Amino acid sequence: MDTAGIVSPADRFPQSAGGATPARWWQRGVIYQIYPRSFADGDGDGIGDLRGIIGKVDYLAWLGVDAVWLSPIYPSPMADFGYDVADYTSIHPLFGTWRDFDELSDALHRRGIKLILDFVPNHTSDQHPWFLESRASRANPKRDWYIWRDPAPDGGPPNNWMSTFGGSAWEWDARTGQYYYHAYLKQQPDVNWRNPALRDAMHQAMRFWLDRGVDGFRMDVIWHLVKDEQFRCNPPNPDYHPGLWPSRRFLSTYTADRPEVHDIIAEMRRVVDEYDDRLLIGEIYLPVDRLVAYYGTGGTGLHLPFNFQLVELPWRAEAIAAAVDQYEKALPPHGWPNWVLGNHDKPRIASRAGGAQAGVAAVLLLTLRGTPTLYYGDEIGMSNVPIPEDRVQDPWERTMPGFGVGRDPARTPMQWDASLHAGFTSGEPWLPVGEDSARINVALQREDPASLLRLYRRLIQLRRAEPVLVLGDYRRLPSSPEVFLFLRRLGDRRCLVALNFSADRQPLSVPPELASARITVSTRLEREGAVVGSSARLEPNEGFISIGTAA
Ligand code: NOJ
Ligand code: MG
Repeated sequence: MDTAGIVSPADRFPQSAGGATPARWWQRGVIYQIYPRSFADGDGDGIGDLRGIIGKVDYLAWLGVDAVWLSPIYPSPMADFGYDVADYTSIHPLFGTWRDFDELSDALHRRGIKLILDFVPNHTSDQHPWFLESRASRANPKRDWYIWRDPAPDGGPPNNWMSTFGGSAWEWDARTGQYYYHAYLKQQPDVNWRNPALRDAMHQAMRFWLDRGVDGFRMDVIWHLVKDEQFRCNPPNPDYHPGLWPSRRFLSTYTADRPEVHDIIAEMRRVVDEYDDRLLIGEIYLPVDRLVAYYGTGGTGLHLPFNFQLVELPWRAEAIAAAVDQYEKALPPHGWPNWVLGNHDKPRIASRAGGAQAGVAAVLLLTLRGTPTLYYGDEIGMSNVPIPEDRVQDPWERTMPGFGVGRDPARTPMQWDASLHAGFTSGEPWLPVGEDSARINVALQREDPASLLRLYRRLIQLRRAEPVLVLGDYRRLPSSPEVFLFLRRLGDRRCLVALNFSADRQPLSVPPELASARITVSTRLEREGAVVGSSARLEPNEGFISIGTAA
């Protein structure tokens, strides 16, 4: 087992590499997303849990990640697998106890790994006590904590707003004779962020975890928090076609990305800033020009509005290089960039880009300027796992079969080894395990120096060792269409990144001052150490990094 080269996180990176602003942990670090149901099952019930994660903390330290983001672990009826929260300040028994939570938090912190929780501020479960009160009567003090409206004159829903998960976003409540709004499932009523008492209650829930030592939050669908005060109908989507799922028939002009949302976020940021060095991330699917507004004026917003371009774009060199340039240009001066390759809502990168490109994707994610977020399993190249109809779990797929919206394929159990159920559980796994688990698993790849997992680890270690990868500026260099070539520069340090998005050999012209440098890390292990050369080349599906000092 290769355990060499583990650097203690405290001393692995200079606070400042010549620049005036020291890099903070979330700027230097790599974030690793765990979908708790699917990472490791400690109690054999087929569903991942905190004890399971505790057992894998050494793995996370070995891999070298700096922060772990856990998808929701709160009590929940699991209509949307935890994104329907029934209590913001507790832990679902399915995942474990307070002791388990504190043990996990300590185990991570002892290894210098931060803990980030998912927070779901846009909606609660319909079983949350707040909603139970709100729906009890129109006079209930918490009535206004949710979004209640009278029917339209014909008795139908108040307007045309649709649920992302299908159908009208308005659910009729016969007892009190009004509709409530839910952007997702009807079991996920949206809260009313215009109500000051609701806002206070949410802030208190955030402080609860910050007091307990949590290092930050990933805020679910944060661009949805405020809806139009006048409840205007959304306009039709001019790009709609019948292949798209029904809610795409309308734009979300009046239901998301409203101007008032920035005040709400600024307030959340102030809560986080009451504490030392905590992190606020937001989930936002918006075009880049609107996305960057979420940094807030003068840095009053999110530290990291998630940038999903690598998740959404076709896997082509030109498209991706153009998107990187556009993003770099659009960032405000105080805006720290970030990149995401996959998450629990989107198809796996190895399936989108193809297994042969998984290494190129790894090099890209870990060498672009900005904080990388890595989705569990992508480091070993897990693919989308086909889910037989009778094993579908995702409510989105269940309510809207046939549109390809199902998210289960990217949520299957982590593949630890070649044993039964890939070492994920001793019971029956809640989702099927990938059929490739005999080949694609941690145990095997840990021992294989040429594996994707070992590539990820080398890249992460290189980021720790080389400030140019964190703090260096970014400049794209000319290349052939299937190649993305760029340079990172810090002082006299240079890092050349060359990525071949094709399965053919590609020519490469590199700046003369870098021609004599050697390949530091390559997706093809045998190339490491070779001189780049003035008329260089890229092997099929190769990505490499060459770090050197300018003459
Ligand atoms: C975004 C989450 O990532 C997704 O899994 C969830 O279904 C929706 N928000 C609703 O909470
Ligand atoms: Mg379990």
